Amino acid sequence: MCGARLAALPVLGLGCVLAACGSPAKSCPQEIPPCPSPAPSLVNEVNPIIQSVCVPCHGPGGIEANRPYLTYEDMATNGPFLTMYQQVLVCLMPQAPQQLTTSQRQRLLEWFACREPDDRAPADGGPGDAGSGDDGPGDGPPSD
Ligand code: HEC
Repeated sequence: MCGARLAALPVLGLGCVLAACGSPAKSCPQEIPPCPSPAPSLVNEVNPIIQSVCVPCHGPGGIEANRPYLTYEDMATNGPFLTMYQQVLVCLMPQAPQQLTTSQRQRLLEWFACREPDDRAPADGGPGDAGSGDDGPGDGPPSD
């Protein structure tokens, strides 16, 4: 199928795999980045990308406001993650005029490959009890 299309449109040669097989993307990287160690940070890397690149459409007032990605929970529910991953992978998302830089795309795809780790701080009550006046270990003398 690609071969026939390729012969008909030699100028699209390199884009054949995608252009001839249904994707509107004129060129889309084929490689799938593996999960790196450490994984990309949701808080510091991934969420800022989603908020600036996806939420203008996938958020209040956007064209896809019914599929919002404002929070991690939103993405898990409305994405869902696997669909988001696929859409970015084949360059169907983000739609124009938004776009991902090469490094944004890389980090986003790596985060999905890592199964969407969530590095937000726990809401409250961590082990680090910041009490005042710590009076040391109870080292009373042995009583008898
Ligand atoms: C310019 C607007 C726009 C931007 C930016 C955008 N989207 Fe979308 N998105 C849409 C529209 C419109 C649809 C529904 C129609 C469609 O699928 O084309 C959609 C649908 C989707 C779907 C569902 C597709 C399906 O077939 O089930 C996913 C997943 C998605 N977007 C993910 C993303 C992600 C992730 C980003 C950011 C990297 C993003 N989108 C950025 C407009 C946008």
